[in-house]
Amino acid sequence: MSTNIAEISAKSGQKVEIRGWCHNLRSSGKIAFLQLRDGTGRIQGVAVKNEVGEQVWALIQKLTIESSVIVRGLVRTDERAPSGFELTIEEVEPVQIAEEYPIGKKEHGPDFLLNNRHLWLRSERQASIMRVRDTIEFAFRDFMRQRGFVLADSPIFTPSACEGTTDLFEVKYFDDKAYLSQSGQLYQEATSAALGKTYCFGPTFRSEKSKTRRHLTEFWMLEAEASYMNWEENIQLQEDLVVFTVQQVLAQHECELTELGRDLTHLKNTIAGNFPRVSYTEAIERLQKLGSDVKAGEDLGGDDETILTKEFDRPVFIHHYPSAIKAFYMEPDPTDSTYALCNDLLAPEGYGEIIGGSQRVSDLSLLKQRISEHKLPEEAFGWYMDLRRYGSVPHAGFGIGLERTVAWICGLEHVRETIPFPRLLNRINP
Ligand code: 4AD
Ligand code: MG
Repeated sequence: MSTNIAEISAKSGQKVEIRGWCHNLRSSGKIAFLQLRDGTGRIQGVAVKNEVGEQVWALIQKLTIESSVIVRGLVRTDERAPSGFELTIEEVEPVQIAEEYPIGKKEHGPDFLLNNRHLWLRSERQASIMRVRDTIEFAFRDFMRQRGFVLADSPIFTPSACEGTTDLFEVKYFDDKAYLSQSGQLYQEATSAALGKTYCFGPTFRSEKSKTRRHLTEFWMLEAEASYMNWEENIQLQEDLVVFTVQQVLAQHECELTELGRDLTHLKNTIAGNFPRVSYTEAIERLQKLGSDVKAGEDLGGDDETILTKEFDRPVFIHHYPSAIKAFYMEPDPTDSTYALCNDLLAPEGYGEIIGGSQRVSDLSLLKQRISEHKLPEEAFGWYMDLRRYGSVPHAGFGIGLERTVAWICGLEHVRETIPFPRLLNRINP
């Protein structure tokens, strides 16, 4: 039976078999060092020519970077080793001798690395990010389940827009056309009326022509919706989700966060909760004082979010944006209908928006009016308006972008590193 490198600490003093790849190697005439990885971790294997014998030594000489290999040997505790252990190699079984590996030790530009994404994922840094992503995804799901939300997947093929018509991907649908989902929210409004509280978590598509460090054309979003929830309860739910998620990552990924060089200060502040809540109007005033030329009534740009978040030591909620710049489904504030009962959550350290949420319009005539103001085709929203005809209730929800959350928690410069195979404005390969 083979052993996972991640579990090697339980095997000190024992003989193990490791099935993996030769991440790196170095050899003098008498001693060879193999950096082995198996996907779960890394360990250094050491082979001394005189001890392993001619045959094993000859096999080691054939190995190249990223050759797949099965190695057997003795696990030794070694304080100098990064993992705390070393492997004294006894037997080596090459599985495939790799051709010259394109990713070397020298610096590569992002284009080269993205073209080789299928291989780049093997690097320690990328693998660390993927492990953190996995934990974040499971934390999202665990949290929603703990809070009594039922997973109700929204469809990907959709007949209409949710977040505005400009950035829809159109696809042929037999003799008709369809759009790839921009958001599962409208369907969550239906499922939450059936089940009380529901969420979906899947890929989302936007043909935004944005070439920024925050935009993918295909990204994953968790969207929650709850009947009878108001906008303030919605905000608290978002805060609790983010606190829980960051707690999980801090508890499970000290190693990966260190590998990524992540400064943990803001993440530690985050798990204390108490995220500041700033109204849109106040945010605009603060931004203007900080030198932004944003004007009241305008949406915050990426740069504005960056400046603003640097003022806070943890995530910050911005609420009550003007209805005019927000989606058709947002409930206006009953005390001043120019503002919506909505919020964004901006991640600190310049990261900016990771969540958008709101209370939803629950009155049929107001919804009709909003659909027409947004020049959306009323016929496509027949079923959605039914939700306001048959037992309409106040309800609210939000969507959290997975990749932006991963980028912030891992401290990455760009969302392209947060997903195994990023889809960007000018990239759909590999
Ligand atoms: O603010 P958005 O557009 O909100 C919605 O789609 C709502 N229907 C959600 C809801 O209330 N159910 O998107 C929500 C989040 C953003 O805050 C961001 O994290 C992420 O989705 N997002 C993107 N992530 C990567 N690339 C893009 N192009 C993104 N667009 C949005
Ligand atoms: Mg938004």
